[in-house]
Amino acid sequence: MVTKKKVLVIGKNGQLGSEIGHQAQSFLDLNFTFTSSAELDLTDSAQMVNYFSSNRYDVVINCAAYTNVEGAEASEEEARLVNAIGVKNLAELCFLNKIFLIHISTDYVFDGSTGYPINEDVTPNPLGVYGRTKLEGEQFIIVSGCDHLIFRISWLYSQFGDNFVKTIANLSASKKELKVVYDQVGTPTSSIDFSRFLLKIIEDGNYLKFQGIYHYANQGVCSWYDFAYQIVQILQHDCRVVPVLSDEYPSKVKRPNYVVLNKRKLCKHFRVEISHWNDSLRHFLTNHKGLICNNQISI
Ligand SMILES: NC(=O)c1ccc[n+]([C@@H]2O[C@H](COP(=O)([O-])OP(=O)(O)OC[C@H]3O[C@@H](n4cnc5c(N)ncnc54)[C@H](OP(=O)(O)O)[C@@H]3O)[C@@H](O)[C@H]2O)c1
Repeated sequence: MVTKKKVLVIGKNGQLGSEIGHQAQSFLDLNFTFTSSAELDLTDSAQMVNYFSSNRYDVVINCAAYTNVEGAEASEEEARLVNAIGVKNLAELCFLNKIFLIHISTDYVFDGSTGYPINEDVTPNPLGVYGRTKLEGEQFIIVSGCDHLIFRISWLYSQFGDNFVKTIANLSASKKELKVVYDQVGTPTSSIDFSRFLLKIIEDGNYLKFQGIYHYANQGVCSWYDFAYQIVQILQHDCRVVPVLSDEYPSKVKRPNYVVLNKRKLCKHFRVEISHWNDSLRHFLTNHKGLICNNQISI
């Protein structure tokens, strides 16, 4: 009898962790465990040691993070504890217990100054605390010596949690006009596409062939304005989307202006084709329109 690979997903209540939980039903050859912060706290090293000494896994997917970009500016230590120290705890335990670590990082490790799609060789230069602490987490993984894959993603959306797609879908249902910035450019990541990609490479064993950092997002490029415009178009909401410059919205956080991730390395190594962001968005909104229009999705 073939034993199923044991996969631990940390951060089960977040956007990505929830979507992985949803998609897991289609991956019958994998044996999943999902944990929340109450069940397994990355920052509680004694609990972590105890947990991994009594539970064996082949792969850990770490979806947990301190993700409040603005909040991180005021709570640097809290963000660092989860995104850097917590990840260090996890990576060291993965090394000791010979567990393959799949970790999720962010486009916010970059300053957005390249002006061209960013590959994995570009030197990170985070503009704020969130990006800085996420970068520290990446570095702790590499230093730990554990087998790992780090996927940097951007502009994640899903049916779970709060995100831009749900916010625009809900606001455009009731407002006649929305102002959205057009001087920040990147690419959305469909959590459905990304979750399936992750589970597929675990199921078929391809994750074992490669190590290191990879960039993942949907294909194509857009500004937040284009993204919002498309959401409103697909939902056929009667709302005008107006392009504005980000200096009209003063923020505590400096955000990267151009963070298009280059996915060439990932597509080549893992032999995957990634959908255009517009196709994935259309698919997502078509399948979840009922939920959004019935206001069952909170923002
Ligand atoms: N959202 C984006 O646009 C975006 C873009 C680029 C990269 N990313 C990265 O993608 C990953 C997933 O993001 P997401 O949007 O799914 O995040 P999310 O919705 O904010 O969820 C993060 C989860 O982390 C868990 N968590 C926080 N502190 C923890 C701790 N000390 N121990 C264990 N778990 C803890 C929380 O668990 P509980 O709810 O149980 O407390 C929460 O559910 C993150 O690494 C993020 O940095 C996200």
